[in-house]
Amino acid sequence: MAIRDDFPILKREVNGFPLIYLDNAATTQKPQVVLDAMNDYYTSSNANVHRAVHTLAGEATEGYESCRTKLKDWFNAERAVLTSGTTEAINLVAHSWGRANLSEGDVIVLTEMEHHSDIVPWQMLAEERKIELRYVPVMENFTLDMDAYAASLDGAKLVCVVHTSNVLGVRNPMEEIIELAHSKGALVLVDAAQGVPHERIDFQEFGADFMAFSAHKMCGPTGIGALLIHPDVFETMQPFMGGGDMIETVTITGSTYQTNEHKFEAGTPKIAEAVGWCAALDWMSKLDLQKEHQRLIGIGRWVAAELRTLGMAVYGRHEKHDSAVVSFNHPTIHSEDLAHLFDARGFAVRTGHHCAQPLLNRLGVSGTVRASFYLYNTMEEAELFVEQLKQITERFG
Ligand SMILES: Cc1ncc(COP(=O)(O)O)c(C=O)c1O
Repeated sequence: MAIRDDFPILKREVNGFPLIYLDNAATTQKPQVVLDAMNDYYTSSNANVHRAVHTLAGEATEGYESCRTKLKDWFNAERAVLTSGTTEAINLVAHSWGRANLSEGDVIVLTEMEHHSDIVPWQMLAEERKIELRYVPVMENFTLDMDAYAASLDGAKLVCVVHTSNVLGVRNPMEEIIELAHSKGALVLVDAAQGVPHERIDFQEFGADFMAFSAHKMCGPTGIGALLIHPDVFETMQPFMGGGDMIETVTITGSTYQTNEHKFEAGTPKIAEAVGWCAALDWMSKLDLQKEHQRLIGIGRWVAAELRTLGMAVYGRHEKHDSAVVSFNHPTIHSEDLAHLFDARGFAVRTGHHCAQPLLNRLGVSGTVRASFYLYNTMEEAELFVEQLKQITERFG
């Protein structure tokens, strides 16, 4: 498989066995072009951005800003703030938009499916401002209760929804969710951390007001992500973090701020990471993402069916637009033990609550084993994974 050749890490062994990396919902591996781009940047262009006039500073600025340009192009977005990841992007909305627009008695609608990074910032704000948080329940079929969602919108100012669940792989009906929220006058923040690796979203057509995601879930580096903001909302938002680079003028009596995205990017930004993300986007743009997604969900569906046949409790539905994430529990072997047994044979899978404790509470479990497939994973690896599970069950089950 040609894609695999681009990922040097896939050639390594773990505990004497070829690595089979199935922890892609946590983070994805990086193609050589990303490693080279970051290395080249530090080797030949390293400088700080936006300020100095020397050649290196110009190259660094161009590298950093071209990431923003590429993101705007990739997502058809007018405003793209570079953050440290999805988590910081959501916190930015809570601080900059939330603090300016929400007060006692206001309502934010969340779902039981959210990652902690789309719950905790709102709980903090709710405590500070006495805001009401309403959670849309997850039903037995692993989807959101859309009737409850519609009913929860009365008086809501903001809806925060995960595009695709990192535990279930379920892709939520975002278009319907956004339309309904807007019809009731609420803005919408989409946590697209697990969505953008699988689906090329046109932000303007999508219609959300905020969309947060991380580079490292789409073959880019850790430490960088983005917040796309609808331009009308962007104009109304003030920075919450002050410092260098985000100002226009500073005197001892006060400061004025930049009016573009820089107003939210105080301090020295993630320059090498931006350069690496550019390389990842270039690399991904050569793929047919839709075709790859169909191949991966095919693998996910097959694994989920096999696991059910083997008596596992599988959480998720694995339909056409869902991601290839298979969360499950063994009837007799604890999830942590199972993950260790897999690791002993070179398989990397995730266990625990996946930073989604409310969802796991809803499922009635404290943890699951999660195998998540991405661009470089093959059907052969999926078969080996299922075979390994059979062998573990025969020996320890
Ligand atoms: C759905 C979802 N939201 C948010 C995050 C947080 O992303 P980051 O840690 O890159 O900020 C993750 C990461 O696992 C995620 O899966």
